[in-house]
Amino acid sequence: MIKNHFTLLLSILLLLYVNTATIASQDYIRRNADLDLSPKNILIGSYIGGRSHVKPMLDIAAILIERGHNVILVTSGNYTPASEYPTVKQVSLGPTIDYNDMGGVTSSQKQFDYTAIKAFEGQILKSYSNNFEKFKNAAKEYNIDLFFCHALVNDACLDAAYVLKKPLVGFSSYAQMVAPATYKSDPILHCNTSLENASFFERFRCTIIQPIKMVFTMYPFANQLNNMRKQFNVESSSVGTGDLRRISLYLLDTFFGFELPQSLPPNIQEIGPVLPREYPPLTPELSDFINAHKRVLYVAFGARFTTTVENNSKLMQSFVEAINKNMIDGVVWALSQTSKDAFYPTLNPTDGSQIQTSSILNNEHPHIRIVKFAPQFAVLNHPNTKLFLSHGGAGSVHESLYTGTPMLVLPLGSDQMGNAEKLESAGVALSLNKMKLDVNDIINKMDILLKDENVKKNAKRMEALAKIDSKRKYRAADSIEYILYSSSLNEGISEGYLNEWAPADSRMGFIRGNNLDVYGAILVTILGLVGGILWGIFKLIRFIVKRNPSSDDQKSKRE
Ligand SMILES: *[C@@H]1O[C@H](CO)[C@@H](O)[C@H](O)[C@H]1NC(C)=O
Ligand SMILES: *[C@@H]1O[C@H](CO)[C@@H](O)[C@H](O)[C@H]1NC(C)=O
Ligand SMILES: *[C@@H]1O[C@H](CO)[C@@H](O)[C@H](O)[C@H]1NC(C)=O
Repeated sequence: MIKNHFTLLLSILLLLYVNTATIASQDYIRRNADLDLSPKNILIGSYIGGRSHVKPMLDIAAILIERGHNVILVTSGNYTPASEYPTVKQVSLGPTIDYNDMGGVTSSQKQFDYTAIKAFEGQILKSYSNNFEKFKNAAKEYNIDLFFCHALVNDACLDAAYVLKKPLVGFSSYAQMVAPATYKSDPILHCNTSLENASFFERFRCTIIQPIKMVFTMYPFANQLNNMRKQFNVESSSVGTGDLRRISLYLLDTFFGFELPQSLPPNIQEIGPVLPREYPPLTPELSDFINAHKRVLYVAFGARFTTTVENNSKLMQSFVEAINKNMIDGVVWALSQTSKDAFYPTLNPTDGSQIQTSSILNNEHPHIRIVKFAPQFAVLNHPNTKLFLSHGGAGSVHESLYTGTPMLVLPLGSDQMGNAEKLESAGVALSLNKMKLDVNDIINKMDILLKDENVKKNAKRMEALAKIDSKRKYRAADSIEYILYSSSLNEGISEGYLNEWAPADSRMGFIRGNNLDVYGAILVTILGLVGGILWGIFKLIRFIVKRNPSSDDQKSKRE
């Protein structure tokens, strides 16, 4: 009894002690994680420009602006969405790039692959000196501390940073060129994105033959560009994709799960999907339309690529059939640059009826809404939007994954074929072949994507991943601030700058970096040993053979 009371007392005392300890913790001091960094000037540069290249960079810049830094945007044309970022000053490189001037980068091209650089090279060479001067002058005029360049087809921006010895952050959504992995390739090289289950010959073709072919195709262009660089006292370098030895940090706007997994060095960071904090709402008409339909297909292709009259009409016909079959009950098609005469005048669905395309295009069909532009994220984010038919550009893919919307992908060019394959392997999409568009194929695939339980599960999984990873744009801004901080301590870029992030192999050269000399030594040792043993055996055999004739002689003598 007494013992019990004692235990009770002890417990109460202990409780009191614990309580006072918690009270004492309120005196703790808050840890400070802020950098002591004065406001800096950052230049965002993109030659190709346009929403898909510039928007995610501006979304990262928006965070830096909130932290007190100044941002100027140097790009082709007049980037209109910059109105969403009113504090960003704009300097134009010249008129907006018209893709049709670039040798017709349209779906009429059989393959949009590495050879397509031929269509671009004239334009890139022609614009190099103008762009280089404009990037350089803008950097001087605005006293730029850091270049944030889109890393694809933007050599002038990368070179200007290099010549001015300014820290350079590269940006792209395309991992293949900057961080090659032995088990990955890309349809741009006429290979599959994953070589995991490829045969020996396929891996040989994709790791040796195709890259060599690409280098040969690019060689004359690289040569010309390097000659041009010489005029501006820029050392030769790679073309089109940026040289990691000149880039302090490379930000990849993608995320593993969509991108096939691989390891990355610390100076290449995947920080995507970068998405804006806010998005424009549905227009009242679209809102009414989508609310009134329970299974909506949203259709939008990029502004850059267009398809043929025949293919447009096939798409339209498959939508009408899918509605007739009650697979979907509504379609929203953002036609963007596709003009309204890019269709046959009449459609002939399989039910024998005849439909005037003009009536659909004039929004007289009760279940099809044709709009010029749609607030894409808002459409995808609506629970009634069940499927997205897209070209598979990185921005659209990110939005679709974020909202858990399965995709039917019609890749038209550049990174889109690879994106389609990655989405298929993530189990959230099926893809169409632009050269063999077929109404029944489209309908069958829509049916699978709408019904399959695995697709729904995978879409949920990818949605979770995209949501978590979308927070990493703050990490991107933090990393850029670190580079600004580190370079301000160093008074710019000097020897040893950012060695804490650059893996040593980049400084050790190809042979030492890959320990090829060590493996070579092992090979020589093994060959030497094997050779020695073989030589010994050879000597032994000769010795035996030499003795044998005498024993034969003896034998013959005995006989
Ligand atoms: C789609 O367009 C391409 C390019 O014009 C064409 O070659 C192809 O035949 C079209 N596909 C079909 C099924 O008509
Ligand atoms: C890529 O994979 C697909 C199947 O996913 C296959 O049909 C196609 O032939 C492959 N392409 C190449 C170039 O291996
Ligand atoms: C390759 O094959 C393995 C085993 O069948 C499978 O688990 C994996 O998903 C395949 N990879 C690809 C990219 O198809």
